[in-house]
Amino acid sequence: MNHVLILSGAGLSAESGIRTFRNSNGLWNEFNIMEVCSAEGFRKDREKVLDFYDMRRSDIKDKVPNAAHFMIAELKKSFPEEIHVLTQNVDDLLEKAGCPDVVHLHGTLCDLRCENCFNIWNIKYESIKGKKCPECKSSNIRHNVVMFHEPAPAYQTLYKTIEKTSSGLFVAIGTSGYVIDAGGIASCFNFSILNNRDPEPSMDNMFLKVFHEKATSAAPKIKEIVVKFINSGVF
Ligand code: APR
Ligand code: ZN
Repeated sequence: MNHVLILSGAGLSAESGIRTFRNSNGLWNEFNIMEVCSAEGFRKDREKVLDFYDMRRSDIKDKVPNAAHFMIAELKKSFPEEIHVLTQNVDDLLEKAGCPDVVHLHGTLCDLRCENCFNIWNIKYESIKGKKCPECKSSNIRHNVVMFHEPAPAYQTLYKTIEKTSSGLFVAIGTSGYVIDAGGIASCFNFSILNNRDPEPSMDNMFLKVFHEKATSAAPKIKEIVVKFINSGVF
């Protein structure tokens, strides 16, 4: 079986109007990353961090998937065993595009997690204010998003998937490689594609094929290569 691992980052959702992190108008240019997205910041000012994730959660309410989300969703529905969809994104646009079995490596904005019983439940785009865990009624609850200096349990799935698929094709879409070393992952695979709008000198040359363009314009080209690879093993 010809497996394909598709890893996406903030650039996948950029054309849907969700800000990326490290570009010129990125989220980390407006907010101090360690104040609103780190274990230390959460300990220091819990309310500030909960408000930050409330703002990001309500921001994605009206966002819609773009052609790149639909491309990934169609591939996953057509080849459920061969395609593995892992994303660093915490938005729900791949699900809105109909993609099943998305692995969210950094958690999910529309879910909350109970710090008392570890229950995770979906609140869509609502505020966390005034909510209690539906299981144990505790108000010791938080966003279900992994912050810096916190464990990311889903990384185990990433490592296992790399092990299972490295004889196949690795596709990275819309990630700077700053947190998850997409270039290093590419070097584990026989075949690899990178699609970023902007060049990433630190990792571009780790990929066999590179598309420096918007995800929506690269999407049909990537789909064609992936379908051919799955059906014939030809890259
Ligand atoms: N199409 C394709 N790629 C794009 C587009 C677009 N329309 N717009 C931006 N990009 C690319 C940029 O060139 C950049 O390489 O997307 C990448 C975005 O990089 P980051 O902002 O660093 O986002 P990401 O790699 O997902 O960050 C990883 O960092 O802050 C943490 O947890 C957060 O999951 C996030 C992680
Ligand atoms: Zn609970």
